[in-house]
Amino acid sequence: MKGFIAAAAATAITGALAAPSPVEKGPITARAPAAACATPVTLSGNPFASRSVFANPFYASEVKEAAAQITDSALAAKALKVADIGTFQWIDTRAKISIIEDTLKEVPCDKLAAFVIYDLPGRDCAAKASNGELAVGDINIYKSEYIDPIVALFKKYPNTAIALVIEPDSLPNLVTNSDKTACKNSASGYREGVAYALKQLNLPNIAMYIDAGHGGWLGWNDNLKPGAKELATVYKNAGSPKQVRGFATNVAGWNAWDLTPGEFSKATDAQWNKCQNEKLYVEAFSPELKSAGMPAQAIVDTGRNGVQGLRKEWGHWCNVNGAGFGRRPSSSTGSSLTDAFVWVKPGGESDGTSDSSATRYDSFCGMEDAFKPSPEAGAWHQAYFEMLVKNANPPL
Ligand code: BGC
Repeated sequence: MKGFIAAAAATAITGALAAPSPVEKGPITARAPAAACATPVTLSGNPFASRSVFANPFYASEVKEAAAQITDSALAAKALKVADIGTFQWIDTRAKISIIEDTLKEVPCDKLAAFVIYDLPGRDCAAKASNGELAVGDINIYKSEYIDPIVALFKKYPNTAIALVIEPDSLPNLVTNSDKTACKNSASGYREGVAYALKQLNLPNIAMYIDAGHGGWLGWNDNLKPGAKELATVYKNAGSPKQVRGFATNVAGWNAWDLTPGEFSKATDAQWNKCQNEKLYVEAFSPELKSAGMPAQAIVDTGRNGVQGLRKEWGHWCNVNGAGFGRRPSSSTGSSLTDAFVWVKPGGESDGTSDSSATRYDSFCGMEDAFKPSPEAGAWHQAYFEMLVKNANPPL
């Protein structure tokens, strides 16, 4: 993921917690999978208030394998703790749809399954590292072979609570990168695809957050209103689906939550951006979104923002060197506009290859502040994972 740069309802607290199944009254080792939960879930309000994100088996096994390779036993023990931290699962190809059910089968009644919907035609139009499997124009494939089967699976598990981040980078790229040919060509498919996803995924057991970039992207004074308008228009075109809760920020990003003054507040262009940390961004973007007619609660990815002061510019997005795991997922954010800190990017999966001969090589992944060597986007990156563990802040 990534590309960019850019210069110049809240409803009542949470929905019915599914009734605990009889198994849950047994020994604490016996966790009831959601399929066995008695009641269909209807989410309203902050879905993270009563349920934390389930540590999905896909990432947990990546982490366990990684920890097993670490010879320093103290570090290995810390690494292993990451396997228990609830992290979003990316459905970045049609082939990955098959892993959704592995997770849904196992989610206990008191947890949320969390996924990223990420397979738009012409994906990652402003960068190369995460170019996807569907070409511009493949909108019918996106609908019928990607969204529809996912919806069918979610419908099979009405008793399971699910949180979704919708299509990282897509709408933000239309706000700031529409001068790029690939983004211009992708625009109508992005808008149609996101609206379709929102409409079809609008099930009672689902809460959706549309990606809104981060403070260094749509936080510029000139981008706040157009950004809000872009998201709200797509939302309204989808029929204002009830289960859209708001927006996601800092997905796979690096910005601090509330560092003051912000990391780039001394930059020469800082005067044009009031959103020097994610908290300020949420506080500025949320009211714009609300007045544009969209629900505007936020979730913020704090998975890899534990260390600050690493990037030359805050548009640098690829495998930032020196990074550490950040704040643990939590619904105690101290911000009424922010539902939760979440780990969206699975720390240890690469942002993009540093091999300059690769088709998906993006120059951001070869920059001075990027960790090298690095494998293809999404591939496991052992050395990077170990660094995240070592530099975790708070420590693991
Ligand atoms: C990659 C995806 C991957 C995701 C999570 C993105 O940058 O393009 O393939 O699933 O990151 O690691």
